[in-house]
Amino acid sequence: MPDWAEQLPCGRLLLRKPLPYDAPALFSGVSGDPDVTRYLGWTTHTDPAQTQRQISHDLARWQRDVARTWVLVADGGEPGGLVQLVGQGHAMRLGFALARRLWGRGLAGDAVTAVLDEAFRHPSLYRVEAVCDAENARSARMLARIGMPLEGRLGRYILHPNLSPEPRDVLLHARVRN
Ligand SMILES: CC(C)(COP(=O)(O)OP(=O)(O)OC[C@H]1O[C@@H](n2cnc3c(N)ncnc32)[C@H](O)[C@@H]1OP(=O)(O)O)[C@@H](O)C(=O)NCCC(=O)NCCS
Repeated sequence: MPDWAEQLPCGRLLLRKPLPYDAPALFSGVSGDPDVTRYLGWTTHTDPAQTQRQISHDLARWQRDVARTWVLVADGGEPGGLVQLVGQGHAMRLGFALARRLWGRGLAGDAVTAVLDEAFRHPSLYRVEAVCDAENARSARMLARIGMPLEGRLGRYILHPNLSPEPRDVLLHARVRN
């Protein structure tokens, strides 16, 4: 079984394992920006210390082999996004978010493609799925474009607390090993 790469260079981007000092940049661009967190499964951070704790949690999950989070760095600048795979065994769940300044350049698609390539190097992995809020058209478009087609709509499936206290419908996208 190959080890998981801690760094994934891909063209205009570098994806790398988080570092404790990423917290301020990730807070200002990603976790603390309500436009970025709108459709995510956790509430918008109000303090960089929350982002710091999340990084520690993500590093602990690398250690325990239950999830991997990569920080996205574009154009050699500040950390500006996150791509995450959660799970063990034959299936994993994908998550991703980019700072607004990086939207609309095809960067999320490139980053997720690199993570999928890395994931499917592992012969025991057969499926990577993503669930996106039924109103998150930008995300669904990107997933379909990079080869994670729509499998269906799941009713009242998940809480997106920045949108509503009630569970939301999601679109299920996946890539499977043939
Ligand atoms: C969803 C999200 C990750 C998409 O990021 P992105 O980098 O803009 O997405 P893509 O990689 O698909 O880029 C495609 C856009 O770049 C444009 N683009 C420019 N150059 C491009 C290139 N070389 N290749 C592909 N697309 C390019 C496309 O026209 C497209 O624009 P559009 O979305 O307005 O149609 C981003 O909006 C985000 O972080 N949203 C908040 C968090 C979130 O919702 N996460 C998903 C949870 S399921």
